[in-house]
Amino acid sequence: MTAALLEYERLSVSLGGNPVLRDVSFSLQRGEILCVVGESGSGKSTLLLAALRLLGPAGLVTGGTVRFCGEDVNRMPKARLRDLRGCGLGMIHQDCLASFSPLRRIGDQIHEALAAHGSVSRAESDRRAADMLARLNFPDPQRVLSSYPFELSGGMGQRVGIALCLLMGPQAVLADEPTSALDVVSQRLVVDELLRARRDFDLGMVVVTHHMGVARAMADSVLVLKDGRVVEHGAASDVLSCPRDAYTRALLDAAPRLERGV
Ligand SMILES: Nc1ncnc2c1ncn2[C@@H]1O[C@H](COP(=O)(O)OP(=O)(O)O)[C@@H](O)[C@H]1O
Ligand SMILES: [Mg+2]
Repeated sequence: MTAALLEYERLSVSLGGNPVLRDVSFSLQRGEILCVVGESGSGKSTLLLAALRLLGPAGLVTGGTVRFCGEDVNRMPKARLRDLRGCGLGMIHQDCLASFSPLRRIGDQIHEALAAHGSVSRAESDRRAADMLARLNFPDPQRVLSSYPFELSGGMGQRVGIALCLLMGPQAVLADEPTSALDVVSQRLVVDELLRARRDFDLGMVVVTHHMGVARAMADSVLVLKDGRVVEHGAASDVLSCPRDAYTRALLDAAPRLERGV
């Protein structure tokens, strides 16, 4: 049997000496979308960052492992880690525009990212970027490439961030509240684009969201995190329609207000 794309096995992490993840286990297969839900502070972002070994100076793995295609992320040599972050595991942040420099045009920055992971001419990176932006519903990709980040709306910036992530050719995508900062129309667009990317590229995705409407629209499986522990994990249809855990029920009861529009 081939290894799962991502496999967390009893992962425990502390930040600044405080336990933040405790014994977290799950696996993600190619083509699967796993939504991670839980209240603020439950460890969702930490769970994603652990897979990229980006826990920062305060972070410490105190037990367990994260494997990417069977390889222990915490034992990867530096060069493999660069590949992992560059093109193995793509990351989509809550505010994608914030990770672009405000001073340079989008096309320049996309070219720089692509060129850092393989020789590619400017003409080739512009062509690939324009194709990807067109797939992501931008009617005038050239205009986006010659824009500065401040010229884009939040929803456009989010789709540009998704485009850059997909251009790197990841095998799996980690998305940290990718729709939280958006209006409902942009939320729908971003959800649709992520679903399309999964279908077109057979990607595995871990999508952190506190938005149950997003989870309902996207998830094959759902993992519920509370105080760094997994309180429930299973098929989306089971967890979202007949939650076993009282905490999951409370999250779902809070959802109808948020769900409209997605
Ligand atoms: N550098 C840090 N030092 C100590 N605790 C931290 C640090 N960063 C985050 N935390 C704590 O870790 C917990 C989990 O944070 P996080 O993974 O960001 O949760 P979520 O994404 O679910 O809101 C929170 O209680 C937060 O206060
Ligand atoms: Mg977070």
